[in-house]
Amino acid sequence: MSMDSPKTYTIKNYGCQMNVYDGERMAELFDAQGMTPADDKNDADIVVLNTCHIREKAAEKVYSEIGRLGKTSRSPGGPMIAVAGCVAQAEGSEISRRAPTVDIVVGPQAYHNLPQMIADVTSGKRAVDLDLPGLDKFSQLPQKRKTGASAFLTVQEGCDKFCTYCVVPYTRGAEVSRSWSALIDEAKALIEGGAKEITLLGQNVNAWTGEDDTGTMQGLDGLIRALDRLDGLKRIRYMTSHPNDMTEGLIAAHGDVEKLMPFLHLPVQSGSDRILKAMNRSHSRDSYLKILDRARSVRPDIALSGDFIVGFPGESDADFADTLSLVRAVGYAQAFSFKYSPRPGTPAADMDTQISTDIMDDRLQQLQSQLVADQSAFNSKMLGKTCEVLLERPGKLGNQLIGKSPWMQSVHVLAPDLTIGDIVHVEITDSGPLSLKGEPTMRAAA
Ligand code: 5AD
Ligand code: SF4
Repeated sequence: MSMDSPKTYTIKNYGCQMNVYDGERMAELFDAQGMTPADDKNDADIVVLNTCHIREKAAEKVYSEIGRLGKTSRSPGGPMIAVAGCVAQAEGSEISRRAPTVDIVVGPQAYHNLPQMIADVTSGKRAVDLDLPGLDKFSQLPQKRKTGASAFLTVQEGCDKFCTYCVVPYTRGAEVSRSWSALIDEAKALIEGGAKEITLLGQNVNAWTGEDDTGTMQGLDGLIRALDRLDGLKRIRYMTSHPNDMTEGLIAAHGDVEKLMPFLHLPVQSGSDRILKAMNRSHSRDSYLKILDRARSVRPDIALSGDFIVGFPGESDADFADTLSLVRAVGYAQAFSFKYSPRPGTPAADMDTQISTDIMDDRLQQLQSQLVADQSAFNSKMLGKTCEVLLERPGKLGNQLIGKSPWMQSVHVLAPDLTIGDIVHVEITDSGPLSLKGEPTMRAAA
């Protein structure tokens, strides 16, 4: 059935920050076609579901959303439905089979082709593009960048690590780095658009490499140092890193690059060497802890963050106890923890030592209560102290703005005379496990 060409759009992002970045780029692409964001999200001409496949639950959410949209999509005036992102990449034709109301299936490396795909749909075809052509999309997307005070900049995509539980190497393809000049240009455009903070993104962001403008090979630390020299930019962050790509140069940057924030997200997944080996993580508990020690030695106040999986196949009580003891030893400021979710096509999904849901639930609960206690303790150390906060978005209360401390804590500030994008000194008056509250004392120098 042919459809009218869409004039308004809605993009719904799931999963990681890479999808948030991709969603922003799709919006720019649609804007360049003369389309506009729908005022009412439920009344858009095209709905893009920018999906995540990392765990089963994330993937299932997409099908229930398609089901919800599907109820209206074939009635007159209903939206065109596009499934983008990693579920599209991983499940391709299966999506069309399970959800015939879907018009477009587009993988994370092919979304620059959306305008053509929309044209195909308006002339009555279903459009599928799951190519993984490396970095083509970046050169074909519009240059202008929408941005808030804190912006994402994808520097690297894909993963060659093949952890045995993970779908990313299959959905995002091999590791590829964007070029130095493309990144510097995009960073400048973001700063011109009002960004005060740039977070460099990649599945393995610290695997980024590239030649600088003198032809010298640089790693992520070199790129960070170049960004540090850009006027107008106040803060630099990066995520997500792999322990094996945590070079001495990058650790050193935490000690002497002023704009690089004191925060390191370094997933470990497990504290047991036996499980790390079965996960194909290619680092040990000890080598991981040594990296954190080095980071703390150059930047003693650095806030540490990690990802954990409980219930990986074969994980014994003793293995899990190793994870808990690692967590206690590190004292994380933040963390993400998940129950192992078998993903089709990954080696771990076929291991015959799968752990029962009951055991996983119990372990996750134990781990999370430790992590929440550590996070609360980290946050409560801020009470009575003053720190700089970059105000990023409005809060729920009138006059309230929410921003981030250098250590990545959310800070709620009641501030009638402040605006988003301000960096203010805030005295912390209240702390909880997830956020802080504070009162502005003065504006930081612009
Ligand atoms: N099951 C559970 N958690 C997973 N992650 C990746 N794959 C899986 C899986 N199959 C987690 C890891 C990773 C984070 C982004 O998601 O902790 O670091
Ligand atoms: Fe997945 Fe491991 Fe690659 Fe991270 S490093 S994206 S967990 S395969």
